[in-house]
Amino acid sequence: MTDAKLLSTVPIFSELTSLELEELLQRTSKRSYHKHNMIFMEDEFGDTFFIISRGGVKITRVSEDGREVILAMLGEGEFFGEMSLLDGDTRSANVIALEDSEVLILKRRDFIALLEKYPKIAISLLSEMAQRLRKSDQQIESLSLSDAEHRIGITLLRLAEELGTIRRGVVEIESLPYQQDIANMAGTSRETVSRMLKVLEDKNFISRRGRSLSIHDYTQFKRAFS
Ligand code: CMP
Repeated sequence: MTDAKLLSTVPIFSELTSLELEELLQRTSKRSYHKHNMIFMEDEFGDTFFIISRGGVKITRVSEDGREVILAMLGEGEFFGEMSLLDGDTRSANVIALEDSEVLILKRRDFIALLEKYPKIAISLLSEMAQRLRKSDQQIESLSLSDAEHRIGITLLRLAEELGTIRRGVVEIESLPYQQDIANMAGTSRETVSRMLKVLEDKNFISRRGRSLSIHDYTQFKRAFS
């Protein structure tokens, strides 16, 4: 996909005409990162907004005892880096490439000018930030649960929403994150993830083939875990 085409698929830019998208593209620069590269670190000063044009990233914080906590995983067409541009504070989290990735970068000056010129972009941005806050609220709730099966169930629901495709009530997640990453989203260990996936399989909630996972009856799964 060309970068212009990619920008046209980014929901917050959906109101822009192709000419306006072209102008926006002129203001961006491109950067590539290898899998596992750190794009930036929490507490750094930040002056740029990022749009993922290829690949994916994870947004993380590190707990006092050195454990990685994954706040979100973002893929092609999604953005990050807006928070420190909006509140003037340092970066709120680490961002790490999950695979070989490319990003389009916009400087703070151009990002703010864009929001001022197109209030609809600012409203879409608020809407996306509200959705992210809802997901974080769910994650906080799930982390407070002691029952590992529920924590993994809630994490799978989130992955289904973000990565899955639904057909006749069955959700397919083509490329499930690594078990260690699922563990870091759910606040548990890799071994527990492995055990709980097996439990969910035995209960016929899910099945797995290689890195893909299907949830057999999404409505029933949501009823059981949300
Ligand atoms: P910023 O604080 O500039 O740098 C880290 C970025 O991670 C932040 O902007 C957001 O884009 C993103 N981010 C932080 N917390 C979350 C979250 N809970 N969900 C999704 N993205 C987040």
